[in-house]
Amino acid sequence: VREPDLAGRHVVVSAGGTREPLDPVRFLGNRSSGKQGYALARTAAARGARVTLVAANATGLPDPAGVDVVPVGTAVQLREAVLKAAADADAVVMAAAVADFRPAVYAAGKIKKKDGQEPEPIVLVRNPDILAEISADRARSGQVIVGFAAETDDVLANGRTKLARKGCDLLVVNEVGERKTFGSEENEALVLGADGSETPVPHGPKEALADTVWDLVAARLG
Ligand code: C5P
Repeated sequence: VREPDLAGRHVVVSAGGTREPLDPVRFLGNRSSGKQGYALARTAAARGARVTLVAANATGLPDPAGVDVVPVGTAVQLREAVLKAAADADAVVMAAAVADFRPAVYAAGKIKKKDGQEPEPIVLVRNPDILAEISADRARSGQVIVGFAAETDDVLANGRTKLARKGCDLLVVNEVGERKTFGSEENEALVLGADGSETPVPHGPKEALADTVWDLVAARLG
């Protein structure tokens, strides 16, 4: 049994993937299952933390016991929920796959195909970068902020660039591909620290990666 080393701490975890609606029945989404974020929430609770889990479309995953779950759909909703929960948080872990873009217009009625006409192009606009925003404008001094990055190649170089651009304290870099990570029970990652540290996490259960993330967070909280 682990020490309750996060007792008295409030941590916020975002999980799942946002869905950006085009009309009442269609959306742009991604393949994130939410399993890594849920593992982070469970392990933080097991280590004594008060946990707020901002869950984007993590359908089918049971609410972890003792965790405050805030369901959201879109990136804009996820931002609102994370900003609210982060106000008094000791740490924020952004494990959710947030859509970088959303459709510029939402059609109030179902988009129809019209005989003999080409489809309308879908115009996208940028979503807010929540991780960059909460890192630049910390709700509390000493708050530890963790991002995730899925990269298909050049994991180390791309990870370092992203860590600097986002301004977070730790970045968990996953190598993804057709059969890797998404929806799977296991993960393999390299955790980069803004202090220059590199913590490789060998292939294993998502709980093991989650515990490594909380070890690194706990060390930074002091
Ligand atoms: O830029 P990229 O999407 O690769 O960054 C991934 C990290 O940034 C994740 O931690 C994700 O939760 C966060 N993110 C965000 N807001 C966005 C896009 C990504 O907070 N609009």
